[in-house]
Amino acid sequence: MNKYVKYPFLICLFILIGSLGVHLFSEDFAGKLREEDYSEVLSKGEKLYKKKACLSCHGKGGNNPQDNSYPLIGGQPKTYLKQQIIDIRDGSRSNGNTAIMSASIQTVSDEEAYLIAFYLSKQ
Ligand code: HEC
Repeated sequence: MNKYVKYPFLICLFILIGSLGVHLFSEDFAGKLREEDYSEVLSKGEKLYKKKACLSCHGKGGNNPQDNSYPLIGGQPKTYLKQQIIDIRDGSRSNGNTAIMSASIQTVSDEEAYLIAFYLSKQ
């Protein structure tokens, strides 16, 4: 290989390996979790959903709200759900009835938001 072929080849190789790494560690990779990890993530999410009081307002599986003005949250995409939980917690989403919810979710971490969102998306 001469240098005009070798360097572009090496650069392409690094980009390929790099993007594979990003893919493997991205959250969407959780969609391809092994069976036992999958059920573990699911049950962690379900426990948090109860522990963090989401259940009291959003009801079983996220689709039995305490009040008809509350949204149905079960079965929505996990990326969307996670972002809404974080935005409502941090106040960057503060319109509508979000004030009802924001105070009670201040102790939810980003990771917990992901686990709950994962659980809800499978309902
Ligand atoms: C005190 C009642 C209450 C509690 C507790 C509560 N929520 Fe909510 N939640 C609401 C209300 C009301 C809204 C609608 C806000 C609005 O009008 O935009 C909402 C909105 C949401 C949304 C946005 C839905 C959408 O379609 O955009 C998500 C996601 C959500 N809640 C998840 C959770 C999770 C997860 C928890 C627990 C960590 C939780 N909520 C705890 C009342 C509550």
